[in-house]
Amino acid sequence: MMDDYKRNINYLRISVTDRCNLRCVYCMPPEGVKQTPHWEILSLEEISRVVDAASDIGIRKIRITGGEPLVRKNILELFQAISANPAIDDLSITTNGVLFADMAEDLKKAGLKRVNFSLDSLVPENFKDITRVGKFDDVWRGIRKALELELHPVKLNVVAVRGVNDGEFADFARLSREMPLHIRFIELMPIGECNPWAVGNFISAEEIIQRLQQEFGPLETQIKVTGSGPAKYYRLPGARGTIGFITAISEHFCGSCNRLRLTANGQLRPCLYGNQEFDLKTPLRNGAGRQELAALMAKAIRHKPGRHHMQDGWTDRRVMSQIGG
Ligand code: GTP
Ligand code: 5AD
Ligand code: SF4
Repeated sequence: MMDDYKRNINYLRISVTDRCNLRCVYCMPPEGVKQTPHWEILSLEEISRVVDAASDIGIRKIRITGGEPLVRKNILELFQAISANPAIDDLSITTNGVLFADMAEDLKKAGLKRVNFSLDSLVPENFKDITRVGKFDDVWRGIRKALELELHPVKLNVVAVRGVNDGEFADFARLSREMPLHIRFIELMPIGECNPWAVGNFISAEEIIQRLQQEFGPLETQIKVTGSGPAKYYRLPGARGTIGFITAISEHFCGSCNRLRLTANGQLRPCLYGNQEFDLKTPLRNGAGRQELAALMAKAIRHKPGRHHMQDGWTDRRVMSQIGG
């Protein structure tokens, strides 16, 4: 469906849980965030009903996120249900990869087309410091498995944080040369609890590009990688993969934003940053039919803002794991 700003809204990101088996320093406090009680979380059947209604108003791409989506019980059933809807042509997941390797074949059979891993360091000790948990080897096994099963394009999300992983940017770039991996550096967003900390540790995409060009020379520009998101891609000459940038802060991409978000507790969010939400949980539980749900989603799309105003401050109390990244 077209919104009032002539954007084609065809992509729904679904957070299936706010729980996570890691505790990344920029995302959560060490003790984790207060978990939403079970009864507030949409059931898999309720999520499938939302997907069916969404497909009636033009949603064609679904991304499953969290928290960590693979900690959700029976998650394979959701993949099966979504892939049974012929209108959905892209079904992907964003995962931290800890549980991915052992589930990968079943996920593929259930309809998963491609996968984005969150991985902020290639050095196991540093990875442990960032995630406060570790398990780098499990994540790496997951990434290799995704390549082996040809869940292409396989993308790695690297949140760039000064003093934390800025010594590894060149190593990530080299990895894109050696393996068919799409490395995406994400600008750190001052979201939720990590807000004051994030401001002092921010590194812009421009600075990363400059640093990489100093080391490797000019990057090839205007590279295309399959996806529905906002990343811009470059390539090292001769590389098998690419290097992308998600410039959420330095250059917002609201003008081409194609997405809606569904939070784990059943709220439809037209914009990551705006704190406006539309309740789908109550109508779902009051027996709303497909048409009624589709009409509610269309209303949320009509309220999607033309651009975010994050520079005015993050007024929401939710953190990324609750919204779905
Ligand atoms: P594809 O390009 O389809 O592979 O997906 P994607 O890049 O949209 O998905 P992914 O979950 O890997 O997103 C990576 C990161 O991009 C997210 O964690 C956010 O940090 C950022 N991002 C995704 N969508 C938005 C958005 O609508 N606004 C902003 N500012 N950032 C976003
Ligand atoms: N800023 C930027 N990216 C973030 N992510 C989580 N919190 C933040 C933040 N404050 C990223 C994760 C994951 C994606 C879903 O969101 O690393 O790759
Ligand atoms: Fe978990 Fe992702 Fe948050 Fe890390 S960033 S704690 S992997 S939800």
